[in-house]
Amino acid sequence: MNRCLILYSTTDGHTKKICDYIANNLDEVNKISVVNITSFNQKDLDNYDSIIIGASIRYGRHQNLLYKFINKNREKLDAKKNAFFTVNVVARKMEKNLPQTNPYMIKFLKLTKWKPQHLDVFAGRINYPKYGFIDKYVIRFIMWLTKGPTDTRGDFEFTDWDKVKSFAKIF
Ligand SMILES: Cc1cc2nc3c(=O)[nH]c(=O)nc-3n(C[C@H](O)[C@H](O)[C@H](O)COP(=O)(O)O)c2cc1C
Repeated sequence: MNRCLILYSTTDGHTKKICDYIANNLDEVNKISVVNITSFNQKDLDNYDSIIIGASIRYGRHQNLLYKFINKNREKLDAKKNAFFTVNVVARKMEKNLPQTNPYMIKFLKLTKWKPQHLDVFAGRINYPKYGFIDKYVIRFIMWLTKGPTDTRGDFEFTDWDKVKSFAKIF
């Protein structure tokens, strides 16, 4: 029996979309649950043999709840087959889309004692019309600085779905 938990930490939902895609591409799994970390009951961890955690970046950080969850459950995570991936937009750049080169993965690994067995980095999405005024213009400024798209009418998805599929197949 291989029961897999896919836990996500998201602000705008793109990390959940990636998790659903992983769930649809996992092999040799009998049961898959895709659950938001904010609503997950930690007692349920014992019901799973493997776990994948995915978390997005906002203003340079993963959510605090992610670190709290990992710190509290590290032994249980280590006892299962496990993986972690981060979602951010600097990862759209070739030179920043590997665990060793993505600044947020490097920071994550410094901030936690957990050493996931598998790591990956996926580029996210910028959906300007969905953001409030401040977020929209802050992210537009960052995009301008980093030579990304600045048209605030646009919805830009940078995710390499083949890379996500490979991650699921390797896991
Ligand atoms: C207000 C805001 C701040 C962001 N800050 C960063 C950032 O500091 N670095 C980065 O690489 N991506 C940043 N992003 C991009 C997000 O990581 C990207 O949109 C991701 O797909 C969000 O995933 P989610 O929908 O699961 O929350 C930011 C996006 C927004 C809207």
